[in-house]
Amino acid sequence: MRPLTLLLLPLAAAPATARSTTTRQTSKIHHNPDSGYTYYGCYNETTDLPNTSGARALNGGTNLVAAGNLTVEACWEFCRTGAGDASGGRTGSFKFAGLEYARECWCAQTVSSLSGKLPDSACDLPCEGNTTQVCGGNMKLTVYMAGAAAARVAWAAGLITAGAISFVLV
Ligand SMILES: *[C@@H]1O[C@H](CO)[C@@H](O)[C@H](O)[C@H]1NC(C)=O
Ligand SMILES: *[C@@H]1O[C@H](CO)[C@@H](O)[C@H](O)[C@H]1NC(C)=O
Ligand SMILES: *[C@@H]1O[C@H](CO)[C@@H](O)[C@H](O)[C@H]1NC(C)=O
Ligand SMILES: *[C@@H]1O[C@H](CO)[C@@H](O)[C@H](O)[C@H]1NC(C)=O
Repeated sequence: MRPLTLLLLPLAAAPATARSTTTRQTSKIHHNPDSGYTYYGCYNETTDLPNTSGARALNGGTNLVAAGNLTVEACWEFCRTGAGDASGGRTGSFKFAGLEYARECWCAQTVSSLSGKLPDSACDLPCEGNTTQVCGGNMKLTVYMAGAAAARVAWAAGLITAGAISFVLV
């Protein structure tokens, strides 16, 4: 019952709503196309779902808790390099990087199918290392996906190739 109690406490405390409304005005979803990660959405955590044995929405990867100093960039870097994972670190990139509870960074190759996509506004906590950035929420993750920038490059390369072929044909 302990997880349920933890979940209900913030709901019972009225000021929590007022606080998240306030933080929404100053914290924004951080974007940087050069990072290699693009915004994927706000997703809920799955540890409280029945029969999941506490499995995470971003499961099977690695994670970092950076109380007081987590930023979106730090999480991207951590998940991109694979730093700190169980096999000794820097084992390769994780496809997904998720920020949770203002201070946690979760890396994984998949997002659990049990995790639901929520409205962007449900992720409403400022990052402890940069309060202008959103770092998920209570049991909610601001999720980024790798590869979209690379996909754009591949798409552009495809256009150039197609252009070259049609040039030859003409
Ligand atoms: C969880 O697992 C138990 C035992 O296998 C089963 O009886 C129960 O219906 C399951 N609950 C859900 C929500 O799937
Ligand atoms: C957070 O601060 C600690 C202590 O200064 C440092 O060791 C750690 O690398 C920092 N983490 C991030 C993600 O910046
Ligand atoms: C996550 O969101 C989905 C979709 O709204 C919902 O079905 C599910 O119960 C939620 N899970 C948790 C743990 O809140
Ligand atoms: C905090 O984040 C904002 C928006 O991403 C950025 O412009 C700013 O430089 C960051 N501040 C620090 C101290 O890194």
